[in-house]
Amino acid sequence: MRAARVRPTSPEGTPYGFPGNVAPSSAIEIHQDVPKPQISKPGELLIQVKASTVYKDNLEWNELYPPSHATLGNDFSGIVVAVHDSEKTFRVADHVYGMTHANRGGTWAEYTIVMTEEAVKKPDNLSWEEAAAIPGSAITADQALFRHTELETTAQNGPKRVLITGAGGGIGTFLVQFAVLAGHHVVAASSSNERNEPFLHSIGAHEVVEYKDFGTLDKVDVIIDSVGFQILADCWSVIKPDGTLLSFDACSWGYIQDHKEKGISKGKEGVRALFMIAEPSTESMARITEHVAKGHIKGRVSRVVSFNDVREAYESAHSRGVGHGKIVVLI
Ligand SMILES: NC(=O)c1ccc[n+]([C@@H]2O[C@H](COP(=O)([O-])OP(=O)(O)OC[C@H]3O[C@@H](n4cnc5c(N)ncnc54)[C@H](OP(=O)(O)O)[C@@H]3O)[C@@H](O)[C@H]2O)c1
Repeated sequence: MRAARVRPTSPEGTPYGFPGNVAPSSAIEIHQDVPKPQISKPGELLIQVKASTVYKDNLEWNELYPPSHATLGNDFSGIVVAVHDSEKTFRVADHVYGMTHANRGGTWAEYTIVMTEEAVKKPDNLSWEEAAAIPGSAITADQALFRHTELETTAQNGPKRVLITGAGGGIGTFLVQFAVLAGHHVVAASSSNERNEPFLHSIGAHEVVEYKDFGTLDKVDVIIDSVGFQILADCWSVIKPDGTLLSFDACSWGYIQDHKEKGISKGKEGVRALFMIAEPSTESMARITEHVAKGHIKGRVSRVVSFNDVREAYESAHSRGVGHGKIVVLI
């Protein structure tokens, strides 16, 4: 079967991995003769993958490198083609969608094994492409807001003031929608109001701001950052002294210590600073699928690419496109 994998070493033979030698996009290779995986234990499903997605900075994910997985891709929509004899929830021919664990990947392939807790049944109102565009981004947003930051899912004790950076991005779009649906006051930040303001208001943002205008904002209770770098550093100036700042940007995993050492977070010692890695979760997917079924959210697809174009698609995920939504790969 076909699968898109990361070559484990450079042409000179140096192993890719952390620290410091992240694979370049040229290390993404399509293999035609990868053995089709087989179910080997309870809890596994064999999926014929229909669609997956592209993540900016995927090659920066520590989990990608040995001793973990080599086949890229975490989001999937597809058809169950084999189950373990003990399987109770899923049947062959079920249409499912979900996200594999960051340390396994595996969905840029015609067939992949997923664990039952990584899949849920796909609502009929979603195409394969729309379904694949949801899980990883929506799970990351759901867990950032309601698990790690511990925002109330119904704002019973009053709305919090929540700032979201990269609000027009793949995950930012879900962060804005989920925080608004939960009843919080959302300030959506991006690098360009011209490019993003009408869209961000259309998905419910109460305020829209460009990063360069952070100084004009009233302080916020919670910041969820998806951009990192200087934007994340600037967040310290906008957070309340007892607020919560969370980043999941792939390049920002060491930011708390780094900002402390550089004095960037000085004077904000009362802020709860967090970094997170999203995990497959049936609880998150149930909440997300309920929103999808009710029509509150949908999978936004900016572009659909063929399997042979995954490398180019990965590169283009790092330039600002005109549309909002995920790049979806047809498998
Ligand atoms: N920790 C986890 O569990 C986890 C899970 C999934 C993804 N991630 C990571 O989370 C980050 C955000 O993912 P995403 O899918 O939301 O990304 P995305 O949609 O591609 O980008 C998010 C935002 O980054 C900004 N940006 C800054 N520099 C950019 C550039 N050179 N090109 C394009 N956009 C740029 C853009 O906002 P403006 O246009 O407003 O500047 C964009 O909306 C990535 O680093 C990804 O790897 C982490």
